[in-house]
Amino acid sequence: MSKMKRILPIIFCLSSIGLLAQSTLIFRNVEGKDSISRHIYGHFAEHLGRCIYDGFYVGEGNTQIPNVDGVRKDIVEALKNLKIPNLRWPGGCFADTYHWRDGIGPKKERPAMLNIWWGNVREDNSFGTHEFLNMCELLGTEPYLSGNVGSGTVQEFSDWVKYTTHPNGSSPLTDLRQKNGRSTPWKVKYWGLGNEAWGCGGNMTAEYYANIYRQYATFTTNWTNSDRLFRIASGASDDDYHWTETLMKNIPHNMLEAIALHHYSVIDWNKKGSATAFDESTYFKTMQKGLLMEELIQKHVAIMDKYDPKKKVALLVDEWGGWYDVEPGSNGAFLYQQNTMRDAVLTGSTLNIFNNHCDRVKMANLAQCVNVLQAVILTHGAKMVLTPTYHVMEMYKVHQDAQLLPLDLKTEQYQMGNEKLPAISASASKDKTGQINLSIVNVDANQKRTVNIDLPGLNGKTITGRILTAPKLQAHNTFEQPGAVQPAAFREFKVQNGQLQVVVPPFSVVVLGLK
Ligand code: AHR
Repeated sequence: MSKMKRILPIIFCLSSIGLLAQSTLIFRNVEGKDSISRHIYGHFAEHLGRCIYDGFYVGEGNTQIPNVDGVRKDIVEALKNLKIPNLRWPGGCFADTYHWRDGIGPKKERPAMLNIWWGNVREDNSFGTHEFLNMCELLGTEPYLSGNVGSGTVQEFSDWVKYTTHPNGSSPLTDLRQKNGRSTPWKVKYWGLGNEAWGCGGNMTAEYYANIYRQYATFTTNWTNSDRLFRIASGASDDDYHWTETLMKNIPHNMLEAIALHHYSVIDWNKKGSATAFDESTYFKTMQKGLLMEELIQKHVAIMDKYDPKKKVALLVDEWGGWYDVEPGSNGAFLYQQNTMRDAVLTGSTLNIFNNHCDRVKMANLAQCVNVLQAVILTHGAKMVLTPTYHVMEMYKVHQDAQLLPLDLKTEQYQMGNEKLPAISASASKDKTGQINLSIVNVDANQKRTVNIDLPGLNGKTITGRILTAPKLQAHNTFEQPGAVQPAAFREFKVQNGQLQVVVPPFSVVVLGLK
């Protein structure tokens, strides 16, 4: 038998068990031109289930759970640790039913309303504009107010802008603000002009919404031109490219700062499946839906490029994340779900996509922050748990406002039956101190993957690493075991022949720092 014939079965055997599986990653250059907006790491808090009430807000009189003006201190600390850059509120679908005047003034005089989208529960409006904007100041985050276009009026919308952002004494609205305890304006730059206008926001056509948007945008004005408001149009759902085309064509770009896309990773809207009890094929399908984000962004951006080659209008993804069945025993309308390593992999690979498209994607908001959908925080009474998704967000915060370093990635494939997914996802950036941060996700549920990295000037750099992984894809943190999944130091890398070789375990997220 020839030498080659003897070696071939060994190669075949090694590659079939993954030992030879290798991906390559080349840094195109070490000077970035685009910056990764910190707002890509944004969050979303809707009046839905236990996100606000019994989530962020436990009431001013609460003596059991430490709070500042009713806002949980542990949540504030946890989110500050993420450097939470912005928080979108009050919806979602709720936003187009919300009348902001019901949520100001003495609490006992505030009228209640019915939360028609989320379980027909009674909303007592005890958490309103002042409570939210003060909470943002406590968090050190920028508010993103999502205004009511579906069932409100232009006047109501424009009054909210004046009430929150105009200088003291400038109108009866700011007099009212002062009477309610706040003299100086808050800083509110980000304004959503409706939410899901194609659905719960009014079931409008793209053409009709484009006209309505122009009308609302005309009256969404600030006090001076020095600190311009950022007006966000309700954008497409998933692959509704006609919606993006219509908005880009029909809305003058001097009244449009951004369009907001929504995409959830749901395997089947009628059969979403358990958040924790799932098999590998379900995981694969969730990741297929998640990684579709790349194609969606590419295609929406191509349309935007046609009308706006200078990229003045931003694409936001102001709702994204995994959506599963609610936890057994919880209210079906409250969307309370657990969060596993599947969500960690989904988060890491989605954030890599956003980073790599940061020339057009300027903000993203994970749905949602506390106790709803792919939450970073879960609470139960006085207890709080940080989810695997939280830990990925925390590991990735190094990319906030850093220069994107474009990568050429040649990845192995993760195969299931006849279907394939890229096994490796990555993005890199350089921060203000000159440190390069590289995030790598191995999507493959079974095989560890070796990634060979070409980076000029590698020799002489100090490299540190962190990893989020677990023995099982279904691993998650519970109130009994809050530390079951948490980041650890990572050292599975070496510099060899001028290349950095990293071995990434299955379904894990790694962040390397090179200085
Ligand atoms: O995040 C939950 C809901 O999903 C939001 O209210 C809505 O905008 C979307 O359909």
